[in-house]
Amino acid sequence: MKTEYVERPDLQSDAGRREIERAGEIIRRGGLVVFPTETVFGLGGNGLDAEAAAKIYAAKGRPSDNPLIIHIAEPSDAKKYTETTDLFDRLALRFMPGPLTVVLPAKPIVPKTVTAGLPTVAVRCPSHPVAHALIAAAGVPIAAPSANLSGSPSPTTFSHVREDLDGRVDMILGGECEIGVESTIVRLDSPSSLTLLRPGGITPEQLGEFARVTLSDAVLNKLKEGETVQSPGMKYKHYAPKTPLFLLRGDLQSRIAYLSRQTGRFAVLAGGEEIEALSRHPASPVLFDFGDDPAIRLHRLFFLLREADKAGCERIYAALPETEGLSLALYNRLIRAAGYQIIETN
Ligand code: TXA
Ligand code: MG
Repeated sequence: MKTEYVERPDLQSDAGRREIERAGEIIRRGGLVVFPTETVFGLGGNGLDAEAAAKIYAAKGRPSDNPLIIHIAEPSDAKKYTETTDLFDRLALRFMPGPLTVVLPAKPIVPKTVTAGLPTVAVRCPSHPVAHALIAAAGVPIAAPSANLSGSPSPTTFSHVREDLDGRVDMILGGECEIGVESTIVRLDSPSSLTLLRPGGITPEQLGEFARVTLSDAVLNKLKEGETVQSPGMKYKHYAPKTPLFLLRGDLQSRIAYLSRQTGRFAVLAGGEEIEALSRHPASPVLFDFGDDPAIRLHRLFFLLREADKAGCERIYAALPETEGLSLALYNRLIRAAGYQIIETN
C-alpha cells in the first residue's frame, strides 16, 4: 500500500487540523495510522474493531498472543472499556495524561483480538498533543503497539518509523518522543497494591506514594524456560539491535581498561567520561554520545541502538545501568537488547 506522510503535523493551523481529522477518519474506517506519543511511536487502529487489530499484528509481524494497549483521549474514558477502581482514579489523577498504562478487567465491548483473549485490557492516556488530537478525532479508542517491526527497537523518530513501516500502514504522523522508551505498565492487585509489569517514565518510587509496589520477576530477570508471564510481551526477545550488544558491569576505570583491550570495529554507547577516555585510544571505537543523566539516556537509547546498528560494527558495548529511579527502565530495556549478556570488568 502507499503510505501517506505528515512529517510535522501543525495543530495550530487549519490545514494541520484537517490532516488530523483525515487521520482520525482512516482509523474510524479500519485503517492504520502511525502517530507520535511522549514515549515512542504507536501503530494505531480502531480499538473496538477486531479486524483492525488483526491488521496491526500483520503490519508489525507480531505474534497475536501479545495483547495491545488501548489509547484513550481522556482518563475518564477508561470506564467505557474497563472496570476501574479507586486506586485507578487516584493514579489517573496524578499520572494521566502521561506515560502510565494500567491493566484492568476488560468490558465485553473490547474485542478479543485486542486483548489476545485475556480477561484484562491495558489502557493508556497519552499526553502528546498529536496523539491526543488523533484519538479525539477518531472518536474511538486507538489500539496501538509500538510502531516497530516485531523484535527491533521501538522507533522514536519519524525516519526510524519510516524504515520499518513504509508501505505497511495508511499514514504516518511525525513528532517528538520526549521520553524515548515505552510507558510504565502496572496491574492493580488490591486497593493498596500493584505489580509493576514494565518500567518506564513513571518510576516505582513515584508509584509507591499511591500503593505498595511489587516488581514483576520479568522486570529484572530473564524468564525461565516455560515460565508463565504476567505481561505476555516480556517473553519475546525485544528491542534488539542486529549487532550483538554487551553490557559491562564494573567501575569506569575497569570498563575503560576492558574496552581498550578490544580489537576490530566496535561501538560504545558512552557517557562523558568514557568519551573523553576512549577518544584518545588507539583502538578508536565508534562512540555514541549516551549522555550522563538517566532521562537523557532513556531518551536516546532506542535511537542510538538503531544508529549503532548501521555503523557496521561487530559489537556494541554499554555500561550496565543501576536499577533505581528512571534507570530501572534503562536497565530493563538494555538487558533485553543485550540478550542478558553481561561482562564483569572489575
Ligand atoms: O508507551 C507505550 O506503551 C507504547 C505507546 C505506543 O503507547 N506502546 C507499547 O505497546 O509499548 P506494546 O504493544 O509495544 O507493548 C505493550 C505491552 C506488551 O508487553 C503487552 O504484553 C502488555 O503491554 N500488555 C498489553 N495488554 C496486557 C494485559 N491485558 N495484561 C498484561 N500485559 C499486557
Ligand atoms: Mg513494543
